[in-house]
Amino acid sequence: MPVIAVDGPAASGKGTIARALARHLGLPFMDTGLLYRAVALNLWRWGGNPADEFAALRACDELGFDPADPELRSEPVSAIASRISVYRSVRAALLQRQQDFAAQDGGAVLDGRDIGTVIAPNADVKLFVTASPEVRAERRLKELEQRGMHAHYEDVLADIRARDQRDSTREVAPLERAADAIVLDTSKLDVDGAIAEAVRLVEARLAKAQPNGASRSGP
Ligand code: CDP
Repeated sequence: MPVIAVDGPAASGKGTIARALARHLGLPFMDTGLLYRAVALNLWRWGGNPADEFAALRACDELGFDPADPELRSEPVSAIASRISVYRSVRAALLQRQQDFAAQDGGAVLDGRDIGTVIAPNADVKLFVTASPEVRAERRLKELEQRGMHAHYEDVLADIRARDQRDSTREVAPLERAADAIVLDTSKLDVDGAIAEAVRLVEARLAKAQPNGASRSGP
């Protein structure tokens, strides 16, 4: 059963695409960003300092969280998640859970920043989903407005650029395209178009891996 790695920068559409791929292929799905957000939320609730690696590591203990908790997606938690994800110790503490998920018998889809490079370097298909910073800022702005929050385009764009910079230049597991990843630029695609293109790319790659036409679930 296939393992599908979906990586990319903030608001590129990778989460929506990964979730849709999982549904389409009948595979379990993990949003690995939620793990970093859960650590950030713990730290925030305790009033811990994100600049203190040891405090961030302590916030990884007993990481129970409700994926539907709206606080996980709040702006302060997003900013802290980006800051604590640079720590080697934090990444190491979250590694096993992600690798176990990727290694389960039934296959899996995972989305994040380092799935194709660190978590599942042998994934059957790797997608790198991207879009221009301006398009991503517009999408994030819409998302915030839908949640009843006010923001300015220029601020959102600056935040996206800052996060890109931090995610791509960090020493440990930076955001980068795996050499064997397929790039999907969603700048000019709407949600349905992006999902359709992702399904097409993934199915073509899986079919190429099974040239005799054996079905995915076949013996
Ligand atoms: O959807 P968005 O990109 O805003 O955030 P996310 O995917 O939920 O990730 C939240 C933060 O966790 C990001 O800023 C990344 O720095 C970090 N992250 C990471 O370092 N590695 C991952 N595999 C997933 C997320």
